[in-house]
Amino acid sequence: MSVETKPQRPILKDGMGRTIVNLRISVTDRCNFRCTYCMPADNVEFMDREKLLSFEELTRVVQVVAKMGIYRLRLTGGEPLLRKDLPTLVKMLKGVEGIEDVAMTTNAFFLKEHAQSLADAGLSRLNISLDALDKEKFAHVNRRDCVQQVLDGIATARDVGFKSIKINAVAMRDFSESEIVQLVDYGRSEGFEVRFIEFMPLDADKTWERDKVLFGHEIIDIIQKKFPMEPIQDSLEIGPASEYRFKDGKGKIGIITAVSNPFCDYCNRIRMTADGKLRTCLFSNNEHNLKELIRGGASDADLEQLIRSALVIKEPGHKINLDDFKRPERAMHAIGG
Ligand code: GTP
Ligand code: 5AD
Ligand code: SF4
Repeated sequence: MSVETKPQRPILKDGMGRTIVNLRISVTDRCNFRCTYCMPADNVEFMDREKLLSFEELTRVVQVVAKMGIYRLRLTGGEPLLRKDLPTLVKMLKGVEGIEDVAMTTNAFFLKEHAQSLADAGLSRLNISLDALDKEKFAHVNRRDCVQQVLDGIATARDVGFKSIKINAVAMRDFSESEIVQLVDYGRSEGFEVRFIEFMPLDADKTWERDKVLFGHEIIDIIQKKFPMEPIQDSLEIGPASEYRFKDGKGKIGIITAVSNPFCDYCNRIRMTADGKLRTCLFSNNEHNLKELIRGGASDADLEQLIRSALVIKEPGHKINLDDFKRPERAMHAIGG
């Protein structure tokens, strides 16, 4: 009797020997928020809509990378739910052979109306930005006074059955300290992992300074005083967060020490901007133009070749802590987070 075996997934390596399994796809640079750490308050220049890759073009790129060894996707923005018919895209990507997981990072503002259709389309995991629970602090950092709408969106996502919901809070000095314990408390009672992300120099206003970063070890000190925790070994091998479990068994948190202790040695991801540029690092200073190839009639083999040659020169790490650090031209909303 012959036993059918699943074909083995190819392993995709970069020039440093890191295994790349994850493609983050920005579907729009537009956003309905204007978070201070990401966008300017006004006069934002967005990409022309015809510059955005269509759902068919995106799916084609995913078909190519899935054959190369990528099996996890994350949709990002700006705010991905501003892209019309996003559940249709989720379904198309979920249907690509080899893709096991399609996730999304969102600000949750539109989740109340879309959570059900996203779940039906096969979206597996949701990461949600929420930097403050306090109404005024939320309005200040996000430049939109709508914390309740965001909380309602998150609750709807939980109610329609999303099993993995993570909360992302950007950690900024003289802002986040008073919010940390409240956010952790909220995560523990709702069953969400809250992750604190050190503020990175990707804000459109270019006001980032090292002094404005609330560092991971400081965040841990604040949490430990209220909720004793212990580190979870090897969490960086899975994602960007160093994770800690609460000693009372009630969940865990994550700290993304992008500045104080970069996780670049474990990087398993590449990115594509909404206008079809491949970026091998959040902080890349050069991009690889997939859209030009696609719209110029290139074959799948041509696309694969471009991706492979980009991976050979994927940056060993970002240089935030070095003298020759150069900020990327794009702010976070146009890269995709
Ligand atoms: P997975 O797909 O489950 O690995 O999710 P994730 O945790 O990487 O996704 P999410 O979009 O929630 O990422 C959280 C934050 O971590 C992002 O918004 C960034 O601020 C930061 N981050 C993600 N990837 C990178 C990266 O490659 N480099 C750096 N420096 N920061 C990153
Ligand atoms: N530093 C750290 N994280 C950022 N994000 C956006 N801008 C920055 C920044 N400058 C994160 C937010 C959101 C995601 C889209 O990107 O937490 O979850
Ligand atoms: Fe919009 Fe996200 Fe940037 Fe905030 S961090 S302005 S929600 S893209």
